[in-house]
Amino acid sequence: MDTIDAIKQRRSIKSFDKNHKMTEDEIKQLLELAILSPTSYNIQNWRFVIITEQTIKDKLSELSYGQLQVSEASLIIILCADLNSWNKNPERYWANIPEESRNSLVASLKNSYKDKTELQRDEAMRSCGMAAQTIMLAAKSMGYDSCPMKGFDYDAVGKMINLPSDHLISMMVVVGKKAKDPSQRGGQVPLSELVFKNKF
Ligand SMILES: Cc1cc2nc3c(=O)[nH]c(=O)nc-3n(C[C@H](O)[C@H](O)[C@H](O)COP(=O)(O)O)c2cc1C
Repeated sequence: MDTIDAIKQRRSIKSFDKNHKMTEDEIKQLLELAILSPTSYNIQNWRFVIITEQTIKDKLSELSYGQLQVSEASLIIILCADLNSWNKNPERYWANIPEESRNSLVASLKNSYKDKTELQRDEAMRSCGMAAQTIMLAAKSMGYDSCPMKGFDYDAVGKMINLPSDHLISMMVVVGKKAKDPSQRGGQVPLSELVFKNKF
């Protein structure tokens, strides 16, 4: 499937075939594609908690106010971010480039994020949003469907997954074999209301 078709055909699916299991290879492929998404300074601040076990999916569905797609999907990905990834051995984000350039990038990265808690959080949301869209489009290309989600109890889910104190949860994406088509699109706001040439 080409990218434009994947974009056009991706929809938020609310009903999945509960019996379908994704293979380990498929899950790995999806995650390997996810980490090709861009991040500022190549910081790769996302962390992915993946869940395939039915009992845990059922518990998560409860914590998602009973949303059924959570217990029916084959795979749940909780997209988290490490707010301190800027300071955790950042040299590895440019392992492949010459040392001089690497040192200069590390200095610039640390200078950008140190003590900037709002920026660290913004970056977490930006990175996870990018990864979530990659996951959903890749899933579509692989013959799967998905639903992005923020409708869950963040504190309770954080406890359930032992979220470290310097991490946050951005959102969740569930992936599986569609059991029911979505209703028609809600309707897109026209470009004329959304796009501004050069300035507002
Ligand atoms: C950040 C985010 C959170 C969302 N949370 C939920 C959710 O908790 N439950 C749900 O059924 N859909 C959720 N959605 C799906 C939206 O309702 C859906 O994307 C929107 O209605 C447009 O429909 P489409 O994705 O099929 O184009 C979420 C979407 C986004 C981007």
